[in-house]
Amino acid sequence: MKKLMIIGANSNIGAYLANQYYGKYELILHFHKDTKRITDLLRQESVKGVQYDICNYEEISQSIESLFTDKSLYPDAVIFCAAERSNDFKKLADTEAELIDRIIATNLTGLCYNLKILMPYLRQKDKASIVLFGSNVSRIGLMQGSVYAATKSAVSNLARSIAKEESSNNILINVISPGPVAIDASHFSEEYRAFREDYYKKQSGLIPLSRVANFTDIYNTIDFLLFNNSYITGEEIFITGGAL
Ligand SMILES: NC(=O)c1ccc[n+]([C@@H]2O[C@H](COP(=O)([O-])OP(=O)(O)OC[C@H]3O[C@@H](n4cnc5c(N)ncnc54)[C@H](OP(=O)(O)O)[C@@H]3O)[C@@H](O)[C@H]2O)c1
Repeated sequence: MKKLMIIGANSNIGAYLANQYYGKYELILHFHKDTKRITDLLRQESVKGVQYDICNYEEISQSIESLFTDKSLYPDAVIFCAAERSNDFKKLADTEAELIDRIIATNLTGLCYNLKILMPYLRQKDKASIVLFGSNVSRIGLMQGSVYAATKSAVSNLARSIAKEESSNNILINVISPGPVAIDASHFSEEYRAFREDYYKKQSGLIPLSRVANFTDIYNTIDFLLFNNSYITGEEIFITGGAL
């Protein structure tokens, strides 16, 4: 059975994907602090869990090295869901330097660390496929979320270069960039929830298909890119119901 690794598997979207793929592929689920959305999956014998902070190079190296002492676990496909939001919803001029650093460290440096450390294992496969998460804010910007938006632009640029670097190893890498997705927002602060609801309301009015994306929209696109695609690489695919 093919091996699928999900980084940030306890995220809203990652946990949905993990549940969809359980039974179809052998799962390697990365998590950080919280596991509440994937607790049942992590109890399954066929599912491997791995925990690390994606910003900590040493921690990633050690965890991945020890996981892949078992060569049969080298992944055929990787989905990278982990990310940090601009959850202060402030203008750049008012954003704490610590949050700016954390968003860049997680969404960009952490992503580079993980890809660098995972690549030698993916190169051992006849073919491997990676999907990264961008966001439609990479092309429209995000007021009161500029640092997050900037990192999401960087994700697609990173993929374009890696696609070239790894093409001779038959590793395909693509980015999916959804607009607003209907997720469980119950864990956000009341203020952040209100900010998001207002943003979603305004964005929904601009979507030709008249609704925000759902998990199935995301799954269908990822499933195609990971398991039915042999010629698309370095692309950013927007899942926005026709909106720019
Ligand atoms: N939801 C949307 O509307 C939307 C729209 C466009 C794009 N996206 C993108 O889609 C992806 C998934 O979104 P989501 O809403 O499902 O995410 P989410 O629920 O906010 O989850 C983010 C995940 O990242 C993990 N994480 C954060 N910092 C980490 C670190 N230093 N080390 C390891 N893991 C870390 C968190 O783990 P802990 O909580 O344990 O720290 C959490 O599981 C993200 O890349 C997001 O930018 C989402």
